Amino acid sequence: MPNDPQPEIYPPSPEVIAAACVKDRDEQAVRASRDLEAFWAERAQEFEWFKPWDKVLDDSNKPFFKWFVGARTNIAYNCLDRHIKTWRRNKLALIWEGEKGELRTFSYHALNREVCRFANVLRSMGVKKGDRVTIYMGRVPELPIAMLACAKVGAVHSVVYGGFSVEALHGRIEDSQSNIVITCDGSWMNGKIVELKNIVDEALKRCATVEHVIVVKRTGQPVQMESGRDYWFDDLMGLPVAKSLPGTRSDTEVMDAEDPLFMLYTSGTTGKPKAILHTHGGYMVGVATTLQWAFDLKEEDRWWCTADPGWITGHSYIVYGPLLLGATSFMYEGAPTFPYPNRWWSMVEKYGITVFYTAPTAIRGLMRFGEAWPNRHDLSGLRMLGSVGEPINPEAWRWYHRVIGKGKCPIIDTWWQTETGMFMITPLPSMPLKPGSASKPFPGVEADVYDESGTPVAVGEEGFLVLKNPWPAMMRTIYNDPDRYVKQYWTKYPGVYFTGDSARKDADGYFWVIGRVDDVIKVSGYRLGTAEVESALVSHPAVAEAAAIGLPHEIKGHAIHTYVILKAGHEPSEALAEELKIHVGHETGPIAKPEKITFVKQLPKTRSGKIMRRVLKARAQGLSEGDLTTLEE
Ligand code: WTA
Repeated sequence: MPNDPQPEIYPPSPEVIAAACVKDRDEQAVRASRDLEAFWAERAQEFEWFKPWDKVLDDSNKPFFKWFVGARTNIAYNCLDRHIKTWRRNKLALIWEGEKGELRTFSYHALNREVCRFANVLRSMGVKKGDRVTIYMGRVPELPIAMLACAKVGAVHSVVYGGFSVEALHGRIEDSQSNIVITCDGSWMNGKIVELKNIVDEALKRCATVEHVIVVKRTGQPVQMESGRDYWFDDLMGLPVAKSLPGTRSDTEVMDAEDPLFMLYTSGTTGKPKAILHTHGGYMVGVATTLQWAFDLKEEDRWWCTADPGWITGHSYIVYGPLLLGATSFMYEGAPTFPYPNRWWSMVEKYGITVFYTAPTAIRGLMRFGEAWPNRHDLSGLRMLGSVGEPINPEAWRWYHRVIGKGKCPIIDTWWQTETGMFMITPLPSMPLKPGSASKPFPGVEADVYDESGTPVAVGEEGFLVLKNPWPAMMRTIYNDPDRYVKQYWTKYPGVYFTGDSARKDADGYFWVIGRVDDVIKVSGYRLGTAEVESALVSHPAVAEAAAIGLPHEIKGHAIHTYVILKAGHEPSEALAEELKIHVGHETGPIAKPEKITFVKQLPKTRSGKIMRRVLKARAQGLSEGDLTTLEE
């Protein structure tokens, strides 16, 4: 921990240093701080631009930064067309295994063919540049195909995590005003079917904008297909229009570097999730560079990021990052313990995975089953491991390092956010590692820890984590809500990006992220807002008022605890608590289900009527309640 007199340090091995594409992180950081624009311009040279930029960074209208101003490109072109002109045409782009063990592989050539066909399908349905398309699918290859096809035609994809339920999906379709929804009949998770199409049908009962639903057949269970609205993916892909152009090519839309690529909803401090907007140009440069440098990704690597493509980690590091680098990316449909707790390790062995990137919650979950499960498999092909989503506790770090990495794989603990698009604080393999610290900012990123007034805190002190300069993959705005973008991120410290996290910095300049300081809870690495859980509770007829907090949990990192005031005429009971948990699961999704519901008569509030969640949290943990001067009597 940060205050340890002698923190544990794992120096890089000579082999790791020899292979590293960046031998000296500090040297790169100095170069970038001397000339940020030159630094990123050099990275941008790796890609194809239909027209070069006039200026790398335009900061004349802060905080609405622009990158690669005037340039034209398309990220899908850089993910596919750029590679099929080379020997990589026949390299594997994507390897997929279904939960039931099915295998599908796509070379760059094959992936491009599918993307072109689907782009033709989208165009034939009238999808044009700037249109929004909602994608609500399981983890199947058609998901990245749909994302890339949207990018190719210039549409803005909005992927909604396949674990969200009706209300959450409905709100996101409506807010994005999508005309098209792409889904599956169902998806496999833990041996059970998630009824995706049924959830879409429910959500669409109240969405006026959606004209067409495209359905991938995955499970084959019966679903309703509304004539004139719903089409099977495979039927559309077989139509002459899909194959209309010679060689099933499809023209790539020429995009401005600053044109939107996707929006992704994430939880914040209000009940309404916000759509984080990312662009074609800057996002491309940031995501590819960070993946290559932090994981030292090589041509011959087999990369596996276990995230769901419905979250930013999947967008940046299952789909766009690896394909931009011409890498081979592995994707698995189902649960890590299905049918046994060795499922992941058996696939690491079977597919020869060399670089593996997952979340602390998964590591803690699998640790519980003991070493015998991973030890049944040959994991010697692994050379690099990664972690993301929340701070990794040193105990899980050591287990991951020793049992999975056999003591030879660096653990790249990447701190970043949906908003940042790319890794922001992360070790590069050539750096010494400290379990539990994400180490230092990526070259070009200036991070610091501030106190309430905006003064950097002393070494070892806790404060607010901030980012002091722009980076290419930064969010550009909140879709439809630029004021909220300014207020939420750029107002607490004018001109400085407020992350919402607390952190410490040690004497070596290593950052130790502690957790969220706002009303965001990280449950099993998934980001949820207290307000989302509270509004789901209050929508139940028995509930008058509710407060949600996150409390430490051994496997999940944090778990949701809620305090509920019932309406007159309703009595607390075990059965009602159970009913409320199911209600939240139904409204928002299974991940939002509270761990515990406590019925109370009152909630601690400020005089202005705001619930003081920090007081609830302190009480629940038996800690000091802190400054209570604003607490109502
Ligand atoms: C947390 C996920 C500590 C943090 C990419 C951040 C982390 C939030 C780490 C963003 C890490 C992510 N160490 N904390 N390596 N990575 N976080 O938007 O609180 O789902 O603000 O993006 O996750 O969550 P999001």
